[in-house]
Amino acid sequence: MSIKLDVELAGLRLRNPTILASGILGISKKILERVAKSGAGAVTTKSITVKPRGGHNNPIFIQSTKETFLNAVGYSNPGLKAAKKEFEDLSDFPIPVIGSLVGEDAEEFAYLAENIKEIGFKAIEIVLSCPHTPGYGLLGGHGTPEATKEITSAVRKKTKLPLFVKLSPNVMNLGEVAKAAEKAGADAITAVNTLGPGMVIDVETAKPILGFKVGGLSGPALKPIAMRCVYDIYKAVKIPIIGVGGIITGKDAVEMMMAGASAVGIGTGVYYRGMNIFKEVCDEIEEFLESHGYSNVKKIIGLAHRD
Ligand SMILES: Cc1cc2nc3c(=O)[nH]c(=O)nc-3n(C[C@H](O)[C@H](O)[C@H](O)COP(=O)(O)O)c2cc1C
Repeated sequence: MSIKLDVELAGLRLRNPTILASGILGISKKILERVAKSGAGAVTTKSITVKPRGGHNNPIFIQSTKETFLNAVGYSNPGLKAAKKEFEDLSDFPIPVIGSLVGEDAEEFAYLAENIKEIGFKAIEIVLSCPHTPGYGLLGGHGTPEATKEITSAVRKKTKLPLFVKLSPNVMNLGEVAKAAEKAGADAITAVNTLGPGMVIDVETAKPILGFKVGGLSGPALKPIAMRCVYDIYKAVKIPIIGVGGIITGKDAVEMMMAGASAVGIGTGVYYRGMNIFKEVCDEIEEFLESHGYSNVKKIIGLAHRD
């Protein structure tokens, strides 16, 4: 049986449902090209801010349990001007590149959306959900339905590109937040960003290990929370969902798609399985579909919602 893995995401055609999540490897065109070669269906850049940012002090990323990573990178990136140079020519890029944008308020988000127009991004992802960077995401008050509506509509006015809104697992009314994004013109929801923040203490020095003391939780421990978030959002909105959080294997991806995701983002999984994770996850999805009699991956989207 020939198995179809291609999916449609807010007007984008992806050769398979795996997407490199933001913040993991997405700092240069060259690295994104390697990820594309490794089999991803699409890639997301590291989040871009208006001005260059140094981010938090080291250490910024640590494995805290077998199943848990914590990071507090703090949006270190060279800023909009450098991003425009780095990604200036994406015309020959083999898969869609999603530009991740993050600002401190609606005005800054809108400015970014307007000023990345020359870059050949195929979609924009706006991040309203970081749990550990003062002024941004949850610490900037962006996790509410009201802020989501304000920021999403400001960006919507500035771009015709497919617009993805990235949400936090920390809020209890996630369906309401997703609905606010949909009403304000979002074309897809990315769920979720890291959870927390959490903390790891070095017992020898009796000090928190991360430079910022706390960091967002990612990896397999996040998966059941991300799963429930995607399940809730699927019930609340009609636009597609990119399910992110603890996807390491093809079975994880299948589960996420059954919860309602049209595609899956992979971040921490790269640390467990290397860059080949994209191809391996696709092979494993294919094996699952074949052994369960599905000819097309689209058939499993939202399956867990049947009575
Ligand atoms: C080191 C690191 C850096 C990250 N940086 C960003 C970022 O710049 N923008 C963003 O939207 N998400 C960022 N994230 C969150 C991931 O994109 C993803 O939503 C989260 O890690 C959950 O997925 P995972 O369990 O597959 O890693 C980062 C995650 C990690 C681990």
